[in-house]
Amino acid sequence: MEIKKVGVLGAGTMGAGIAQVCIQAGYNVVLIDIVPGIVDKALAGLDKAWAKAIEKGKATAEAVANYKTLVTTSTDVNDFKDVDLVIEAIVENIDVKKKAHKQLGEICKPEAILASNTSALSITEIAAATNRPDKFVGMHFFNPVVVMKLVEVIPGIVTADETTQTVLEVARKIGKDPVLAKESPGFIVNRILVPYMNEAANVYQEGIATLEEIDKAMKLGAGMPMGPLELADMVGIDIVLAVCEFFYNEFGDSKYRPSLAFKQKVRAGHLGRKTGKGFYDYSK
Ligand code: 3HC
Repeated sequence: MEIKKVGVLGAGTMGAGIAQVCIQAGYNVVLIDIVPGIVDKALAGLDKAWAKAIEKGKATAEAVANYKTLVTTSTDVNDFKDVDLVIEAIVENIDVKKKAHKQLGEICKPEAILASNTSALSITEIAAATNRPDKFVGMHFFNPVVVMKLVEVIPGIVTADETTQTVLEVARKIGKDPVLAKESPGFIVNRILVPYMNEAANVYQEGIATLEEIDKAMKLGAGMPMGPLELADMVGIDIVLAVCEFFYNEFGDSKYRPSLAFKQKVRAGHLGRKTGKGFYDYSK
């Protein structure tokens, strides 16, 4: 099936980034968030990114004017009724995702594909909540979406091969270099990256080094583009903790036990850059 119109559900950091790359690839995009005000914030962010792209000579004013004609926004999921593909990027909670996809199945046309940007959860389980498990697939993007080249494509056990091939093609069209991963908690990247961030939080919790020293050590000693605690702040400590807890429960292995440092930050509402405070303070 040829994808012409893409719906993006959830206009937070990831949803806004996914919408941006789809628009820039020429797709018509319907960006929806049921929480009022979020889509306006996302649109303002897109305007800012495109103004910067013109300023840097990376996009022409004509191209940006065209991008703006490709996007519509709404707070009503019924506006997904004529899209060919919905990419969902809402809260990392299995019950919320199942409920949302059940509703999307009822609204979208029968041939439409539903994809979830889940960081770790079971694609098969979310698929089973819909009326089209064969047209359901994982499509996992990385933060910042505009910069990171990877999309993990994860079929569930009943996903049709045609569905997988279609989203692989979409991923390539939006300038990404996708990899196919079998369904398993955290797929490839988060299975490796999240325990790494969790261990950095343990090193911090144990007082082995300061925040700055831990991040500096991993940048200068292991060639990481940013330190693990800076990265947790960028991804969102709530998301990292949710993935740690999922691994701990799913694998039943103590090596995935979530760090107390993550739990305390989340309990304090210090979720990282998005709240102005995480391991570091972004309010100044
Ligand atoms: N949004 C959009 N663009 C951004 C950006 C952002 N948040 N941050 C940086 N950029 C752009 C800059 O504008 C710049 O673009 P230009 O080349 O056109 O000028 C380019 O990226 C490079 O930026 P900088 O020179 O400022 O900074 P760096 O070279 O240090 O790169 C980085 C910044 C790309 C964020 C780099 O530090 C990096 O790769 N960090 C690791 C990111 C990572 O690991 N992401 C995966 C997280 S896990 C995840 O998302 C999965 C989830 O399920 C948990």
